Parts: sequence; C-alpha cells; structure tokens
Amino acid sequence: MSNDNQSSVSSNRDRVIIFDTTLRDGEQSPGATMTFEEKLEVADLLDALGVDVIEAGFPIASEGDFEAVSAIARRVKRATVAGLARAAFKDIDRCAEAVKHAVRPRIHTFISTSPLHMKYKLQKEPAEVLEMVTAQVTRARNYVEDVEWSAEDGTRTDIDFLCRTVEAAIKAGATTINIPDTVGYTVPEEYERIFRTVRERVPNSDKAVFSVHCHNDLGLAVANTLAGLAGGARQIECTINGIGERAGNAALEEVVMALRTRADVLPYSNNIETSMLTRASKLVSAVTSFPVQYNKAIVGRNAFAHESGIHQDGMLKNALTYEIMTPESVGVSKTSLVMGKHSGRNAFRTKLKEMGYELGENSLEDAFNRFKALADKKKIVYDEDIEALVDDEIGHAGERIKVEALTVIAGTMGPQTATLTLNIDGQSQTKQAVGNGPVDAIFNAIKALVPNEATLELYQVHAVTEGTDAQAEVSVRLSENGRSVTAKGADPDTLVASARAYVAALNKLMVKRLKGKPEPMTARLKP
Ligand code: KIV
Ligand code: ZN
Repeated sequence: MSNDNQSSVSSNRDRVIIFDTTLRDGEQSPGATMTFEEKLEVADLLDALGVDVIEAGFPIASEGDFEAVSAIARRVKRATVAGLARAAFKDIDRCAEAVKHAVRPRIHTFISTSPLHMKYKLQKEPAEVLEMVTAQVTRARNYVEDVEWSAEDGTRTDIDFLCRTVEAAIKAGATTINIPDTVGYTVPEEYERIFRTVRERVPNSDKAVFSVHCHNDLGLAVANTLAGLAGGARQIECTINGIGERAGNAALEEVVMALRTRADVLPYSNNIETSMLTRASKLVSAVTSFPVQYNKAIVGRNAFAHESGIHQDGMLKNALTYEIMTPESVGVSKTSLVMGKHSGRNAFRTKLKEMGYELGENSLEDAFNRFKALADKKKIVYDEDIEALVDDEIGHAGERIKVEALTVIAGTMGPQTATLTLNIDGQSQTKQAVGNGPVDAIFNAIKALVPNEATLELYQVHAVTEGTDAQAEVSVRLSENGRSVTAKGADPDTLVASARAYVAALNKLMVKRLKGKPEPMTARLKP
C-alpha cells in the first residue's frame, strides 16, 4: 500500500463533476461576506484548482451579487459558471443576464418539494409546484443549454412526488438534477437509496447528471456525499473549508482527499489539483475571516502534526504508520527558507511562493515592509507569523478605512484612553475616546470617527505562535440590520490588531450595505 493512492487511479473510473459553491452557499453563511475583489480572487483560485463548476452567486439577491457573478462569468475561462435562481421568471432572467458572458454558462434553479416547505414556506399545493418546475426549467433552457434543477429539501420529500418533479424537470430540459439534503438530515444509506430509487423510476433519468448537495448539521455531509455517489450521483456540490449555511456544506478538500486516498474502494476520478487545497483553504479563511479549526481534516493546522512520543517514533521509522496521505499531496510543504531580519525582498517573495501565496506587487511591498518591522521586534519569525501577516494584508487590501496610528493609555490608573487616527477615503482623522478597558476605548474611538449602529457580536484573540512576543490575531464580528460580517486583524500589539480587526469588519459592513453601489464613505459619516 502507498500513502498516496493517486497512482492507482485508472482511466475506467467514473468521472465526477466537482461543483464548488463557496461563493454562493458558502458566502450565504452568517458573517462570511466577501468583497467583490475577494470573490474574483476566490473564483480565479477555484478555476486554477480544477473545479468543474463555480457557483458564483445569486444574481437577483442584490446588485453586488449580480456584478460579482457577471464579472466572474467574464473572467473564468475553464470552469462552467453557474448562478442561482429561485423559481421565478425575474430570478431566471436576472441570472441569465449575469452568466451570459461565461464560456460555459449554467442556470441553477430550485424550488422546495417537501410537504413542510411547500405548505409553510411556499404555501403552494404540490400540483402548483410541479407546474412551476416545468415553467422555470423551460424558461432557463430558453437562455442556456446547461440547466440545473434542485429539489430543495429533497431528502424530506415524498419519494413519489420527488420522482414526478425530477421527471418534469428532465422533460423540460434540465441537464443536471440536484437532490439536496438542505437541512443536513439524511444518513448515508438513505441518501444512497433516494438516488437509486429516483434514477430507477424516472423515465429518461440517464439524460441528466444527478448531483449531491449535503449540509453538515449532523456532521454527515461528507459521508452522505460519498453515499450519493454510490447511488449514482456524478456531481458533488461542496465548499472550501466546508463553509455554508448553519453547520456548513460538505468540504471540498475532505471529499476530494477521500476520493484520492481511498481510490481503492471509491472508483471515481476528478480534475482537482490537490496540492492547491491548502492554498485554497487559506485564501477562503483569509477573505471570510472564518478560522479553520486546528483539528479540521486535511487543512487544519494539526492535520499532519504528530505530538505524542509513540506517534513520533512511528513516523520516524515509517511515515505510513500514522499518515494516510502525504502533507505534500494537499500542498503542505516543508519550507526551506528560515526568515529573519536580514532576509531581503527576494527571499520573502520566494518564501511566500513556497507557502502558496501569490501577491500583486503592491500587496507584496506592503507585506514585506510589515515583515521587516516584525522581524525587528521578534527574534524568530515563524511561517505562522508570515501567514498571519499575509492573510491580514489580503484581508485588508483595498479598504477605504485604514488604521494609521494608535496610542493607548491602559493600566490600573484609568480611565483607559485611546487616541486613534484613521485614514478615511484618503483623509486622516483623529479622535480620542475613553472606555471600559483599552479595547473598549479603541472601539469607542472608531465609533466616534465612523458613526455606526453595528453591534459587536464576537471579539476573539489568539496568539499566532508561542512566546510573549507572538503576534496576536483578533477576530471581530459585527452585525447590522440582521447582516453580520467577520474580519481579522494581526499585529504583535494586541490592541493594534483589535483596531485593525474592528475597522476591517466595518469596511466589510459598508461594502455589504452599499452592495456594489460605491458611495464615498465620508458621505455616510455624521459630522
Ligand atoms: O441547500 C440547498 O437546498 C441549496 C439549494 C439552493 C440547492 O443550497
Ligand atoms: Zn445548500
């Protein structure tokens, strides 16, 4: 046995289509908002990663969503670009408009089919829903040849009715049929059976590709996904890091590495370049500010770490003892360059490349300057330090409000006072505020400079590495009118990191509020 079973993948395997919905279902999860530029960056990486379909967004949802889907459709050259549409003509028309410039456009339309959803959510009779399936798929097919239809809450749908809706969708021209486990309720045996039954019973079921879409409410999303394949599905809907509504969706990296590592029992092939998985995970974590849990399969910090003596001993004798896949196969490389205050620009650039980052010239220059400042303060600059710094740089690129300077008076004598200078749309503005502790004082100073109604939902600090000179990484979640965003800030000074994180969240909230209609930030500021 090898710990890298890719070599055993033969050509007579069934090809499965990898449909990534990080930019749609993933971005829909509370706090995971991405800016327009971040969405383009993620789309570029997904295309390079080798996903077959990129679900780029929900065009009718907002002007910003429409613009993002449309821009992604224009720039992605390899993958199919899909947009989501509810069962309404206006949704489908808008979606068609957004994806029309894609080399391979897809319209993905859906309607609920379960008794619960039809009765309470749609307030429609099954017969009406059936008619809508035909009407919407027909409408979509007038625009594009590639139409996906989803039976929302499919796993809680009466199987006879599910078959009738699938039959109607195929008859109307749907080329992909998705049976989502919308609420993460199914179990593997059941999900497999649903696909088998529908494929057996529905006339012309071979005219469409069947698709799995699993949510992780019971932690079964990946297992259910694999079971769906056993039932005959050949498209997998998933997201990077498993982000998505509630407990998330099936994680792309977990599904793909399961297929690769257990190729002996999972006879399917796909086009994913697995050595880019770590990079994809880091990018999505950086732009959403959703941390990847340490013990997360495949891309967690500890996924390839061996701490116990017994394990370390085994690893030294033969890595196969405790590793079922190589770190290199998912893009975790043992980097060769040790960085310190004498390292130059070129070494820094090479190091970033080794770590899987590719920055534009401006971001690279900014990151390098911050690295130099850090190396002056810190004895050893670890890879994790560089990672935090670059993620911070990516997360803050293009922001309209920036932290320029901060002085804080803290300690037992109180009142804790923060004097903060923000650069807002190119203009420096300073305010002083007091608070119940230094962080509160900083946040009050920010509020004084950028008046807002946002509620602080989360404030979290973690040390990037060990030691008292470690960089702090702060996460802040703000919410306003039911919408929430999360952002991170990193700095050796916890208070500066806090200010950066809060300001980053505010920037995201503004973008979300404006949704693609740029307006000078200062216009929103009260005098
Ligand atoms: O979970 C779900 O049902 C969905 C559909 C829109 C496909 O995301
Ligand atoms: Zn979903």
